[in-house]
Amino acid sequence: MSAKIIDGKKIASTLRAEWRVRAENLKKQGLQPGLAVVIVGDNQASSIYVRNKMRACSETGIYSEVHEFPESANEDEVLCRIHDLNENPKIHGILVQLPLPRHFKDRKLIASIAVEKDVDGFNFNNIGALVTGNAVFLPCTPYGVIKMLEKSNIQVEGKNAVVVGRSNIVGKPMALMLLEKGATVTICTSKTRNLAEHTRRADILVVATGKPKMITADMVKTNATVIDVGINRMPNGKLAGDVDFESVKEKAGYITPVPGGVGPMTIAMLLCNTIEAASRAQVKV
Ligand code: GUN
Repeated sequence: MSAKIIDGKKIASTLRAEWRVRAENLKKQGLQPGLAVVIVGDNQASSIYVRNKMRACSETGIYSEVHEFPESANEDEVLCRIHDLNENPKIHGILVQLPLPRHFKDRKLIASIAVEKDVDGFNFNNIGALVTGNAVFLPCTPYGVIKMLEKSNIQVEGKNAVVVGRSNIVGKPMALMLLEKGATVTICTSKTRNLAEHTRRADILVVATGKPKMITADMVKTNATVIDVGINRMPNGKLAGDVDFESVKEKAGYITPVPGGVGPMTIAMLLCNTIEAASRAQVKV
């Protein structure tokens, strides 16, 4: 039997309608949530992601501004701008779009974002808080995955979860969040020896490797939940995930499509974190 498709676009759209109401209520109380996005260089994919984030903000009633720097910018200029944004009361969330040009140190820039405005949750303090089960902001993509599981009534506690990918943005925080929810978690990479032996044990399999269609049906347990975080442009121009959707959907119990799966959830959770940051700022006043 074919797997149930987890429709990220639909779940995200329902959540965004809820966030819009929350943003409106804050605005009525004189506090419009505000997001600043810092982008350095001219990575085409990043420009598209940033444009989508700004559009989503405007549709949700969140004020947003983009701070663009050329590839030739130096780190101090960008640090100075982040410092200004940390002090700006109109701005409740700040994110530095990744990847940065090679001569920039991601860690240094991200560490300069005020913890209470770090809506990506990538700052060392926020990662430390997540490790100890006291997250301030959950990183948006894995947070989106957890929300999708919740909204699809997929239980996590007690399950075997396997995460393929060890990035700071997805793999590592994903594993921590699943652990926090009570799963038994294995972290693999695309280079793990006998990868299929691990993935075949997964009740919940999350794949974020950037290797198109690397997870095939023989690597998946019957009725497993398969979450595909990958988004890859194929030579024919079409988008594909890290999971071979056509074959795996015949074996899995639940599966996310690409596009229309995890992608829309990432933006929805960014909006959620920004609104949450604004609400916390209001409480402080
Ligand atoms: N680049 C790819 N994904 C992300 C993300 O979630 N946040 C930021 N800041 N950059 C990214």
